[in-house]
Amino acid sequence: MKAFALGRVIPLVEVSVADSAKQSFQGHDVTTSELPLRDACSRPLRDLRISVTDRCNFRCIYCMPKEVFGKDYAFLPRHELLSFEEIERVARVFVGLGVEKIRLTGGEPLLRKDLEHLVARLATLRTLRDADVDLTLTTNGSLLSREAQALRNAGMKRITVSLDAIDETVFQRMNGVGFSALVVQQGIDAALRAGFAPVKVNMVVKRGVNDSQILPIATHFRGTGVEVRFIEFMDVGTSNGWNTESVVPSSEIVRIIDARFPLIPTGRHKPSDTSVRLRYADGLGSIGVISSVSQPFCGDCTRLRLSADGQLFTCLFASHGLDIRMPMRTGDSDDVLCRLVAGLWRQRADRYSEQRGQMNAVCSSQKVEMSFIGG
Ligand code: GTP
Ligand code: 5AD
Ligand code: SF4
Ligand code: SF4
Repeated sequence: MKAFALGRVIPLVEVSVADSAKQSFQGHDVTTSELPLRDACSRPLRDLRISVTDRCNFRCIYCMPKEVFGKDYAFLPRHELLSFEEIERVARVFVGLGVEKIRLTGGEPLLRKDLEHLVARLATLRTLRDADVDLTLTTNGSLLSREAQALRNAGMKRITVSLDAIDETVFQRMNGVGFSALVVQQGIDAALRAGFAPVKVNMVVKRGVNDSQILPIATHFRGTGVEVRFIEFMDVGTSNGWNTESVVPSSEIVRIIDARFPLIPTGRHKPSDTSVRLRYADGLGSIGVISSVSQPFCGDCTRLRLSADGQLFTCLFASHGLDIRMPMRTGDSDDVLCRLVAGLWRQRADRYSEQRGQMNAVCSSQKVEMSFIGG
């Protein structure tokens, strides 16, 4: 693709790179003065979301409906996945370019064997500002009781668990495989016991399916220290049968909770945050709402995604990725990888959620699946 060609152009004049103790790359066409890298809309590159597998043991109706992701679905073969060494190498390059937050995703990331070994490698990375990388993970919680302590011991400090209902019937319908909500709750408890802070819960709300669970979920986690984020059902991918009627806008979600437990808006902690926060007026914690449909937040989007097979996606709704695995496996240096990433980020102009209404059918029919590049 075009970005690939652009990214591989070797500069005619080597730029002399300023003397910096934090510099993790040298002699290529990225100068420290332009870090963090900025895209065509001046958005810095700060977050890397790494999918470690495209497989999942759930078939959530809004993500991997079982009618599409059936037993004949062709998932990536093992040799196509980036190894932990390769993932660490890419992550190191990104941190050298200004990334400060890394989120591991899937599919379901805990299906990847020995994931704690990868966590241990990534937990040692230091940002350009000489701080620990903010390393976290999004999981469906099914294997968390078993894995929480090992992940925490490996150096991960916070974690996010998806849970779309407390009611067993609703949850089991939502996850498509009849998985018990109680087991996920036990995973959340195990994460709290292991010392993760914060532990967050993500609930995707689909009208007519689990909107009855907004208040039960809010009530269940109020006062526990767990922050629940209510997420508008999005039109990611092409297989989840999305339509606007299925979306419960955040304003409605907030009204439902506020009527029972008064809320005080506190806004975004950081401009690039996906969620807008509100705290309970009685001091029993806070919630977040993620309004990617009703109030898109592309203007401050600092996120780049790496698929399990080594493609870089500049938007959750992109139709194509830039392959970084091939250059790695054919012996290209870190400098070349840096130039590739810099070339890709500099020309990035994605604002899909803001432009949703204007997108044409061809573009939307090619969108990548969320289970492939992570949530
Ligand atoms: P924190 O760092 O804890 O604030 O997490 P986060 O909100 O950045 O990440 P998380 O994986 O918890 O994201 C929550 C949900 O927000 C995802 O599952 C998506 O539904 C949505 N989301 C995350 N990133 C993006 C994005 O770049 N664009 C859009 N449109 N939605 C996103
Ligand atoms: N809309 C909103 N969020 C989604 N996720 C997956 N599919 C969708 C969708 N269609 C997010 C959920 C889940 C994470 C893994 O991905 O938040 O918790
Ligand atoms: Fe799996 Fe998460 Fe997608 Fe559900 S939302 S199918 S748990 S990747
Ligand atoms: Fe970022 Fe694309 Fe999501 Fe907008 S739609 S916030 S540009 S990932």
